[in-house]
Amino acid sequence: MVDVAVLISGTGTNLQSLINSCGDHNSPARITLVISNNPHAEGLNRAKAADIPTKVINHRNFKSRDLFEERLHEVLKDNGIKLVCLAGFMRILGANFINLWRNRILNIHPSLLPSFKGLHTHERAIESGALFTGCTVHFVNPELDDGPIIAQAVIAINADDTPDSLAAKVLKKEHIIYPQALKLVAEGRIRVVGNKVTMKNVIYANECMINPIT
Ligand code: GAR
Repeated sequence: MVDVAVLISGTGTNLQSLINSCGDHNSPARITLVISNNPHAEGLNRAKAADIPTKVINHRNFKSRDLFEERLHEVLKDNGIKLVCLAGFMRILGANFINLWRNRILNIHPSLLPSFKGLHTHERAIESGALFTGCTVHFVNPELDDGPIIAQAVIAINADDTPDSLAAKVLKKEHIIYPQALKLVAEGRIRVVGNKVTMKNVIYANECMINPIT
């Protein structure tokens, strides 16, 4: 069983999808800690409702990003955490922290990376004229929204889509692929070679386009 911490800043619907999937009796991962940098994050209530310990580490209480991340690292270590899932965690993590947890931090981003890194992804996807967008689960490396891709899902952009309608459609896909990606990583079926992910015995799910390199 792999002990997982989920880091959030807000609503926590992705956290909820991970809580639900880790509740399956055959899940290889269990969420043993939810950390929020935002004391008012709605996701904290989702964790409490599932009897998962929570911790607020408010970045505003630290003099520097390094000090904030040192505390984060300490809490993760003290709790025996093996994998970290960023789920709407809206702080940029520094290279020191990321290198300590290299290939053990997963992130979900609401675009088909490497397109539309950063914020306002749906507005930018619509403005770009792209016909498709989607979401990506990837290992975190020190570049923003970058790192080996574990899973992606695609949706069409329709002429009448707004940033809100697109966000809602993409979020539904996020809730499908994040649990799938976490399961693969926790089962130890993923290897990282350079900037690519390789997998063993992966059963392809309809909703999930997984990086097909073997
Ligand atoms: C999700 O759409 C997630 O992909 C995005 O924030 C939302 C959080 O929703 N993350 C990022 O933009 C990170 N770059 P949630 O709190 O309901 O899971």
